[in-house]
Amino acid sequence: MTEAAFGGSAEQTSEEEVGLRYEVDGEIATITLDRPEKRNAQTFATWSALAHIGDNLPQQVRVVVVRGEGPSFSAGIDLRMFTPEGVPGQGSFASSATLDGSAFEKRVAQAQRGFLWLRRPDIVSVAAVQGHAIGAGFQLALACDLRILADDAQLCMKEPALGLVPDLTGTKPLVDLVGLSRAIEICLTARTVKAEEAARIGLAELVVARAELPGAVRDLTGALLATNRDAAVATKRLLQGASGRSLEEQCAAEAREQAARVKALFS
Ligand code: ACO
Repeated sequence: MTEAAFGGSAEQTSEEEVGLRYEVDGEIATITLDRPEKRNAQTFATWSALAHIGDNLPQQVRVVVVRGEGPSFSAGIDLRMFTPEGVPGQGSFASSATLDGSAFEKRVAQAQRGFLWLRRPDIVSVAAVQGHAIGAGFQLALACDLRILADDAQLCMKEPALGLVPDLTGTKPLVDLVGLSRAIEICLTARTVKAEEAARIGLAELVVARAELPGAVRDLTGALLATNRDAAVATKRLLQGASGRSLEEQCAAEAREQAARVKALFS
């Protein structure tokens, strides 16, 4: 998992910079952001490692839990990325400024790969968020299908305050979840959204006391795994496609998926 995503070589990128732990237990994969002393700040190596996990996810995995060690889920991008020196072996935004537009966009797309796979229909991804989820941390939580928040969670899309845009796949799920006006307000003020508000406006499925977060994740995971796998995959696929289809198209898609289910179950 020591691959550099942005301008560094694997040899130059230490496990410390990757900052991830990854465990598979049967049908559950758990990804833990594991640099608590730096509030689980993320580097390009972190995103590369996330993409690597997605590319190599064992076929039996049905639920992917994304969590953070320590007081914060993630304080976002490693702020060294904004210094001229950057992160050893990984370059920096300053060095990326010299790239032409398409080369830079390719690098961003490479980083986004670490987040995009969490929406695959064959898995359900669950973010377990305590403390701060700032910038890339908020976007990682948004990349997951579901979010369980501890009551001390604080979400902040800080990028605009730093002169940047959120570019780690977070803008679409944010708009889908809270609507355009609320998304504009949250991003352009870069304010903190606390757990109770997050649940109220659709950014969290559940808020629990901090100590209950692991138990709540276990309960949700158990409930998700109790359903028929193929039906779960087909249903997620249907739900994901719903907003892009007319009612008639969605009804036709339901009928197609059901035909395949009935055939699998009864023939
Ligand atoms: N990158 C690198 N190091 C970080 C980051 C970060 N994003 N966030 C925290 N750290 C480090 C601190 O420098 C400190 O290191 P040190 O002990 O060597 O001095 C350590 O983590 C602990 O940080 P504190 O600030 O002491 O922790 P605290 O719990 O009081 O505050 C908080 C946490 C609120 C997250 C604060 O650290 C913070 O504001 N961090 C920066 C958040 C940020 O601006 N992120 C970028 C968003 S934009 C994007 O992600 C694209």
